[in-house]
Amino acid sequence: MKIITYPNPILSKKCTEVSQDDREILQILDQMAEIMYESNGVGLAAPQVGILKRLVVIDTRDEAKPELLKLINPKIISKSRYDLVESDEGCLSLPGVRATILRYEWVKVSYFNEKFEQKIIETDGLLSLCLQHEIEHLYGRLYIDHLKKTEKAYVIKKYNQKKQEGLASKNLQGDSV
Ligand code: CO
Repeated sequence: MKIITYPNPILSKKCTEVSQDDREILQILDQMAEIMYESNGVGLAAPQVGILKRLVVIDTRDEAKPELLKLINPKIISKSRYDLVESDEGCLSLPGVRATILRYEWVKVSYFNEKFEQKIIETDGLLSLCLQHEIEHLYGRLYIDHLKKTEKAYVIKKYNQKKQEGLASKNLQGDSV
């Protein structure tokens, strides 16, 4: 398992729901968490490691409540439609570049945990932004898809330059997901 980077077409594919008797998922989630920590990321979605299943791991490294979240079939069920916040984002699949986009301030997400119990998270802050970024990966959408055409082209150009210079393996400062 390794991180797939842009413009690999897998990153724009839609993931399928996971069923309870899919025996592989717990192992996949563990491996995803391992890769996320190795890469100093705060989140990782299954398509980023080439698996088209609705699986996400997140650890925002929140000192107040450190927690590794493993989310099966996560879905945004409610969001702050009018409260938007600027989010400075980086993605492990687009190493070396960052951009600021607008996201919902808070979200309510339903998911299943490792025991396949249904759970709900309602949150704002970094965890909310992270959840939105990761869940979009499951629909084949990247954060740069939020940018205007010219801005997106600029970020991709910068990314390609970094890649050529061999710097892309080193993320710029800040969290990547
Ligand atoms: Co990402």
